[in-house]
Amino acid sequence: MQASFDATGDVLIVTGGANGIGAALAHAYADAGGTAAVFDVVAGQEHPSGRVVHHLVDVSDRDAVLAAVERVRAEHGRIDALVAGAAVQPRSDVVDMDPQQWRHTLAVNLDGVVWCAQAVLPEMIARRSGTILVFASGLATAGRAQASAYAASKGALIAFAKSLAAEVAEHRIRVNTVFPGVVDTPQFRQANPAGGEREHWERATGIGQPADVVGPLLFLLSPAATMTGSTLTRDRAYTKSEAK
Ligand SMILES: NC(=O)c1ccc[n+]([C@@H]2O[C@H](COP(=O)([O-])OP(=O)(O)OC[C@H]3O[C@@H](n4cnc5c(N)ncnc54)[C@H](O)[C@@H]3O)[C@@H](O)[C@H]2O)c1
Repeated sequence: MQASFDATGDVLIVTGGANGIGAALAHAYADAGGTAAVFDVVAGQEHPSGRVVHHLVDVSDRDAVLAAVERVRAEHGRIDALVAGAAVQPRSDVVDMDPQQWRHTLAVNLDGVVWCAQAVLPEMIARRSGTILVFASGLATAGRAQASAYAASKGALIAFAKSLAAEVAEHRIRVNTVFPGVVDTPQFRQANPAGGEREHWERATGIGQPADVVGPLLFLLSPAATMTGSTLTRDRAYTKSEAK
């Protein structure tokens, strides 16, 4: 059986889509015929089709999120999916934690997902269709020194996504959580400086590329993913190049 992902006419909002995994997904979605509206605080790459549309939006700013979602709805007439990837990963010991840094991490990684979900849900509920994906992290369950704010935000997201899935199932909206594995992105490099820690990941799980996560994400966005409140864990960085 041959299956391919067709997003013709569909509209995805992907937060944090100027870089890394979100950018790879936005471009793959446009390749598949859909439109990807990227919400990020920095500009990202254009797609030859013009169907990757960049909006400068800080997801921690609820009013800005509501306005941007309304713009997408007005311009494209529908919102089929939200992939909430925007995140920051500062490093700090708890004993030295700057309260503003703690608040900022939760405001982007957790509140930002809540504001985006709130903003897209009325449209999805009205159409009785929609998909929301959130990103967890292995650090949410394994923990890591100097990563408490990031890990706490991701742990909270797992619980949030489960509850939201239960809440909107009656509207035929699916909410799932992805553990994308260890992936070479700007955030990964900043949080894992070259040397010991990156070598550890290389040995422990392998390090994937953003494009390697696109297949699992497109599956979860597709009608083939007949599940909600579920978790897709990409445990090891199995890459296309390894498959050769
Ligand atoms: N890379 C990994 O190994 C890995 C592992 C586990 C989970 N994740 C998760 O996957 C998702 C994507 O991460 P990535 O590695 O591709 O990171 P990335 O750094 O490549 O992308 C994150 C994006 O979020 C944007 N962003 C930051 N603050 C923002 C804000 N306030 N509003 C809007 N956008 C903002 C950044 O500008 C950036 O473009 C994140 O949720 C991350 O926590 C990544």
